[in-house]
Amino acid sequence: MRVLSVASECFPLVKTGGLADVVGALPAALAACDVEVRTLIPAYPAVLARAAGAEAVHGFEDLFGGPARVLAIREAGLDLLLLDAPHLYARPGGPYADPWSRDWPDNPQRFAALCWAAAEIGRGALPDWRPDAVHAHDWQAGLLPAYLHYGEGPRPGTVFTVHNLAFHGWAPAALLSELRLPPHAFDIEGVEFFGGIGALKAGLRLADRITTVSPTYAREIATPEEGQGLDGLLRTRAGALTGILNGIDETAWNPGADPHLAAPFDAGHPAAREANRAALRVRMGLEARPERLLLGVITRLTGQKGMDLLLQALPRLLGLGMDLAVLGAGEGGLEAGFRAAAEAHPGRIAAHIGYDESLAHLIQGGSDALLVPSRFEPCGLTQLCALRYGALPVVARVGGLADTVIDANEAALATGVATGLQFAPTTVPALEAALDRLAALWADRGAWARTQANALRAPVGWVRSAERYAALYREVAAGR
Ligand code: ADP
Ligand code: GLC
Repeated sequence: MRVLSVASECFPLVKTGGLADVVGALPAALAACDVEVRTLIPAYPAVLARAAGAEAVHGFEDLFGGPARVLAIREAGLDLLLLDAPHLYARPGGPYADPWSRDWPDNPQRFAALCWAAAEIGRGALPDWRPDAVHAHDWQAGLLPAYLHYGEGPRPGTVFTVHNLAFHGWAPAALLSELRLPPHAFDIEGVEFFGGIGALKAGLRLADRITTVSPTYAREIATPEEGQGLDGLLRTRAGALTGILNGIDETAWNPGADPHLAAPFDAGHPAAREANRAALRVRMGLEARPERLLLGVITRLTGQKGMDLLLQALPRLLGLGMDLAVLGAGEGGLEAGFRAAAEAHPGRIAAHIGYDESLAHLIQGGSDALLVPSRFEPCGLTQLCALRYGALPVVARVGGLADTVIDANEAALATGVATGLQFAPTTVPALEAALDRLAALWADRGAWARTQANALRAPVGWVRSAERYAALYREVAAGR
C-alpha cells in the first residue's frame, strides 16, 4: 500500500504546532503496517536548507504563476517530496505569515499549488511511484480531494484529516478559475462555503473518508456549538467520519534517552526525575523549593488554549503554594499578561515567551503537573508527552483531552487507574477547583506516586492508531 501524505508542515523540518508532529511521526508507525508513505510539503527556505542532494523528480512550467519542481530526498527518516516553487515559498517568516505575523495575501494560491502538485502525483506524474491513496491534512490540503474529484481519469482513494476545524482556508469566489476549479465546483455539494471557496469545506465534502484526531472531537464537531458552521455537512457525512486518536513519537519523546533532560528516568526509575525538577527551576529562575508543586504550561498562546483563564486563576495557584513555568508564544495580550505575572512574582512564576523545543522537553521532565485548560482541543499532544514524562496532566474535559487522561476521581483512585485530572466546563471557577484538587492530591504522597506511576506507563504511541489509518487507506483504495 502506497500513500501520499500532504501537509503544510512536518517535524522536524518545519513546525508551528501538533500538525507537524503528527505528519512527521505517522509514516514510521505506518511502515510497521506495510504502508509506504511519501510526504509532500512546500519547500520553504528552512526546508530547502536541509535538502542538499535532493533529486528533481518532476517539473511544472507554470504552477500558479511560476515554474516549480518536485524534489525527492530521504531526510530525518522520512521519504520527502518537496514542492520547490520559489515564487510561492521562497520568503522569510513562517509557513503562513510574514515576519510580522501577517498572513500572506496569496495563501489561497500557495496552498492550492501544493494540492495541484499532489493531485498530479496522485494521478501518476512520478515515473516510478504512484500512490494507492492520498492523505490530505487540514485546509492547506483541502483542495486535493477537490482536484482529484473534478479531474479526469482514474484517481487514488482520498482521506482528509481535520486537525482543527477553526481554520477554514476561505477565499473569495472570484479566485475560482485562478485556483483551477471548474465553474460547477462552485456549489453547496462542492467547494462553495459562505459565498466563497472553502478549502476545509472542500476536503470535508469531497474526500472519500474524513477523520479527525480524537473520537470525542469527532462527536463535538457534529454539533452546532462546536461545528463552526460545518456541523450540518459533518452530520450528513457521519458514515464517512471517524475519530482516530493521535499518538506521539516515542523516540523523540523518550525520557530514558532525552538529550534535553538533566537526567534520564523512566517508569522503573521515577526518582531520577528529581534532578530535572531542580534543573528546570534553575533554568527558569524559579526559587529552589523542591517541596512546592511546579505546574508547567507549553502552548500556543491563543483563545483556544484557555490561557486567559489561567491568568485569572493565578492568585489561587499562588495561594495554594504552587509555582508556575510557562513556555508559549502567540497573541500579544497573552504574552504581555504572562510577562507581567512573572515580573510581579519573581521566583514563583516564570514565563519564557517564544518557541523552544529543548525547554519544552525539560518542562515535561521537570514539572510536577502540566496544565491544558483548552476551550476546545481536537486531540492535544502536550498531555500525551506529559503522561510519558510523569508530569500529571490537568486538562479540560474536551476533545482529545477527554479521551487521553483518566481523572483521579474516587473510583479511579480506588481501582488504581488514574493518570491525571479533568475539569469542566472551561471556566475560571472550574479551573480553580481543579487546582484545589491538585493540591489535595499533592498532599497525599502515596496517591500522587501511584497516579504518576500510571501516567508513566500509559500508552501514548502510534501503534493502535496507525493500524486504523492503514485499514482506512485499504478501504478507500479498494473503492477506486
Ligand atoms: P496545537 O497543535 O493546537 O498547538 P498540540 O498539543 O497538538 O497543540 O501540539 C503542540 C506541539 O507544539 C507540541 O509538540 C508542543 O510541545 C509544541 N509547542 C507548542 N508551543 C511551544 C513552544 N512555545 N515551544 C516549544 N514547543 C511548543
Ligand atoms: C491541531 C489541534 C491539536 C492537535 C494537532 C495535531 O493543531 O489544535 O489539538 O493535537 O492539531 O492533530
